[in-house]
Amino acid sequence: MSRISYVNGRYVHHSQAMVHMEDRGYQFADGVYEVIAFYNRRLLDEIPHLERLERSLKALEITPPMPQASLRFVMRELLARNNREDGTLYMQITRGTARRDHPFPKHTRANLVMAVTGPKCPKEKEVSEGVSVITQPDLRWARRDIKSIALLPNVLAKQAATHAGAREAWLMDENGFIGEGAVSNNAIVTAKGEITTSPTDQHILGGITREVMLELARKEGIKILLKPFSVKEAEAAEEAFLMSTTSNILPVTCIDGTKIGSGRPGKITLRLLELYHEHIYRQTGKR
Ligand SMILES: Cc1ncc(COP(=O)(O)O)c(C=O)c1O
Repeated sequence: MSRISYVNGRYVHHSQAMVHMEDRGYQFADGVYEVIAFYNRRLLDEIPHLERLERSLKALEITPPMPQASLRFVMRELLARNNREDGTLYMQITRGTARRDHPFPKHTRANLVMAVTGPKCPKEKEVSEGVSVITQPDLRWARRDIKSIALLPNVLAKQAATHAGAREAWLMDENGFIGEGAVSNNAIVTAKGEITTSPTDQHILGGITREVMLELARKEGIKILLKPFSVKEAEAAEEAFLMSTTSNILPVTCIDGTKIGSGRPGKITLRLLELYHEHIYRQTGKR
């Protein structure tokens, strides 16, 4: 099956999907992105993803390359052309192509690219046994709420996790508090059965999966504390999990080599995952 991508108004073979070397994303990381899962050719939580995209663009004063309705049309067209049932759609918008100079260029249109890949769901064993994480210092900038393509600190942290044989790196501030992971949000469940997760301020990316999880947890009557947790609290927790578009809700059973709770995926985590699967089913019909 040939892979088709989208570049500024054209549907091209993936090997031809290119922007100019003076794309400001390439030279300054001056751009934003979104990752949206699709099942049965239907996009999951499309609107919240597009709303976050709009917020990110606005925060960086990048003029959207097209109205949201047109963007939604292109996304559907790309899915149709790739003829995949399930997978992930990646979209990136940069400030455009211009002679290299730091201030915003005056007459440049944003560059829009999109690509589709296969599903990236966690392995069955990762869900049934849980995954391990390591902690890493958070080296990122102060506007982590913007889904910016400037991901070098995330790349380095994730590489450290990969090197250590862990699934994810949890990023720790100078006081030992964990806001989120390199590529995911996270939460712990205390002995009282309460979920603790960071509030969405400028210190973390407001994940769409996290929002859905919170909504599901509230409906289930689970108490939620919106605050960052320390490494010590994570080590003493009953359960822990991470969340993202590509990981769904994934049990975390070990942090820096210390077992969390029983060392097995927790009851509340697995219930939330079950509810999340129902959420996917309700929107896309995918079991
Ligand atoms: C730093 C960071 N936090 C959180 C998330 C989770 O966001 P979402 O649930 O919207 O995929 C991601 C996903 O890419 C991320 O990179």
